[in-house]
Amino acid sequence: MTKTLHVALGSDSYPIVVGTALLNRVGEYLTPYIKSNKVLIVTDSFVSARYMPVVRQSLVDSELDVNTIEVRAGEESKSIAQFSQIQDSLVAHQLDRGSTLIALGGGVIGDLGGFAAAVYMRGISYVQIPTTLQAQVDASVGGKTAINHPKGKNLIGAFHQPKLVLIDVDTLKTLPQRDIRSGLIEVIKMGVIRDEPLFKMVEEHLEAILNLEDTTLIEMVASACVNKAEVVAKDEKESRLRMVLNYGHTFGHALEAVTHYSRYRHGEAVSIGMNCAAQLAVNLGMFSEADFQRQRTLLNRAKLPITFPPDLSAEALCDAMYLDKKTLGGKLRLILPRRIGEVVIRDDVEDQHVLEAISQCF
Ligand SMILES: NC(=O)c1ccc[n+]([C@@H]2O[C@H](COP(=O)([O-])OP(=O)(O)OC[C@H]3O[C@@H](n4cnc5c(N)ncnc54)[C@H](O)[C@@H]3O)[C@@H](O)[C@H]2O)c1
Ligand SMILES: [Zn+2]
Repeated sequence: MTKTLHVALGSDSYPIVVGTALLNRVGEYLTPYIKSNKVLIVTDSFVSARYMPVVRQSLVDSELDVNTIEVRAGEESKSIAQFSQIQDSLVAHQLDRGSTLIALGGGVIGDLGGFAAAVYMRGISYVQIPTTLQAQVDASVGGKTAINHPKGKNLIGAFHQPKLVLIDVDTLKTLPQRDIRSGLIEVIKMGVIRDEPLFKMVEEHLEAILNLEDTTLIEMVASACVNKAEVVAKDEKESRLRMVLNYGHTFGHALEAVTHYSRYRHGEAVSIGMNCAAQLAVNLGMFSEADFQRQRTLLNRAKLPITFPPDLSAEALCDAMYLDKKTLGGKLRLILPRRIGEVVIRDDVEDQHVLEAISQCF
């Protein structure tokens, strides 16, 4: 079973195919988008061992000239050094302007491979084959690519849309449950910001989702991608609307920074951030207690954390949030819910309200 969606971006439009048993058909799906037969697969050490052979064989069967490069698994690979190695590989294998880069892996590989494709010869085609839930419902859609600078995450990057996104939900079967739960937060987030029926679907089918039942997963991943695609189509380069995707992220990023990106999965930090943003919205009288409890209940059922750890201080978290503020020209921009299915962008919330909400979430 497959579902095909469409990201509408004029001449940069592209399809997203969501289904099962897609990896051994990559060549077939790719062929219509190929201008010359040379491809480079970028993957990580973990994904390579499990999924590279089947993808490579499928491309060879489609008579493509397949080259590969593998980086170490983990966020550290979103580095200038790894980026540079990929450029070396593109040059060494003589990929030309008509060649295609294939990013096979999680969000790290999508961001790193996408950025390498964005700048090699001023931009070559690339295809995303995301293999984590985080990447399937979020990172692989939208064309944001980046690597990290030692001073900050995603500081070096570009907008570069893929030609095709192939999402095989079978790959989730090898992903640890913690990563499934963490990736699920981006789906729940999408439900809160603009799609109440999607939120309800997760409420009703949570067990099937966590048990990785094919049809439910395909339905859910496709719905999340449709939402992201719609937001991106309206605001490709993040002028304003796209910021709603940051719901829970301002608080979450502060928590990730304060805990040095080592204690929490991104989705876990965002879960706590969503609970805190919702608490703030309740305090401001713009979000009902009933909707607040509805979000809390789902996060709890998904075994996602909703409170800050006791060894941190509200002040330290608040400071970390306001560090971002400097880069935004002095205003803290918050995405706050009005109801499940609707958020607003607020840049007029008083500092003491932010601190109060954080304090309530310990
Ligand atoms: N571009 C965007 O719009 C966007 C959006 C959100 C996040 N991101 C980026 O995505 C990254 C996080 O993505 P991620 O969580 O996928 O991280 P990741 O790519 O590091 O993957 C997490 C771990 O899972 C392993 N893995 C991948 N697929 C697997 C599978 N099928 N089975 C078992 N293990 C597997 C990887 O080897 C890695 O060790 C961050 O760098 C973040 O900045 C980008
Ligand atoms: Zn996120």
